[in-house]
Amino acid sequence: MLESSNLEHANRFGATSETILETRNLSKSFGAVQAVRNVNWSVKRGEVCALLGDNGAGKSTLIKLITGAILPSSGEIWVRGSRARITGPSDALNLGIAPVYQDLALIEGRNVIQNMFLGSELTHGPLNLFLDHARMALETTRVLGEIRSRIPSARAVVRKLSGGQRQAVAIARTLIRGGQIIIMDEPTAALGVEQTREVLQLIENLRTQGRTVVLITHNMSQVFQVADQVSVMFRGEMIGTKRVKDTNQEEVISMIVGAKREAMGAA
Ligand SMILES: Nc1ncnc2c1ncn2[C@@H]1O[C@H](COP(=O)(O)OP(=O)(O)OP(=O)(O)O)[C@@H](O)[C@H]1O
Ligand SMILES: [Mg+2]
Repeated sequence: MLESSNLEHANRFGATSETILETRNLSKSFGAVQAVRNVNWSVKRGEVCALLGDNGAGKSTLIKLITGAILPSSGEIWVRGSRARITGPSDALNLGIAPVYQDLALIEGRNVIQNMFLGSELTHGPLNLFLDHARMALETTRVLGEIRSRIPSARAVVRKLSGGQRQAVAIARTLIRGGQIIIMDEPTAALGVEQTREVLQLIENLRTQGRTVVLITHNMSQVFQVADQVSVMFRGEMIGTKRVKDTNQEEVISMIVGAKREAMGAA
């Protein structure tokens, strides 16, 4: 899945040893629509990286390329300094890239442990015929503890959980599957104030644990609350990336407005 590392190439593109994920001239077209155009973008290990942009800017398409949900028209994805061959979601997962799906893909009538191991249940005994309930319960408690989630019990049925707690289950599931780079597409879009706060806290906890998070959001104040880096997309292009500590909301807004003015001038 990985090509051998090519340091000279990496240096030419400005990658550093801290870079965990990178796209090089990545493009995706849907017929006449160029959803992602020659995007060069990189994410540092252990950071929260926000992606901002108007509706239709190409944010979801970019992360679908990275998570193997769709294939690029051209360009490259590099993970930990090596070119990655991502031909489907399992390739991405094997590289530690794990999406938290927008609909969370949880089964309402099952408990947290069952949801955590859906389709990848742990087994034991002769021929691995028996479900290893004890180990699944332990693992669930361990990852919920790791992200310091506020779920009352691993045996709670998902139907009874709040929106924030459901997000915690979906995030914990990515960790159980070996997720190191956790990708979230507008995780707070459908949540109230308190639950949004809970999810932002979960993101913060992931970072504390050394995980990398890519966060798509429309909410500028969230960017300044939790992100280390903010990248702005406009009409399929990556128009800029800033360190959050070196910028402010006005500057980020002016990047977006500037791109719009330029596009209007060119039209
Ligand atoms: N499967 C598809 N088939 C055709 N066009 C698509 C497809 N997916 C996305 N597009 C188009 O690609 C462009 C980028 O869409 P994308 O969903 O990536 O934007 P976005 O930045 O995530 O927007 P939003 O903030 O509304 O979620 C849009 O013009 C969209 O209509
Ligand atoms: Mg989107």
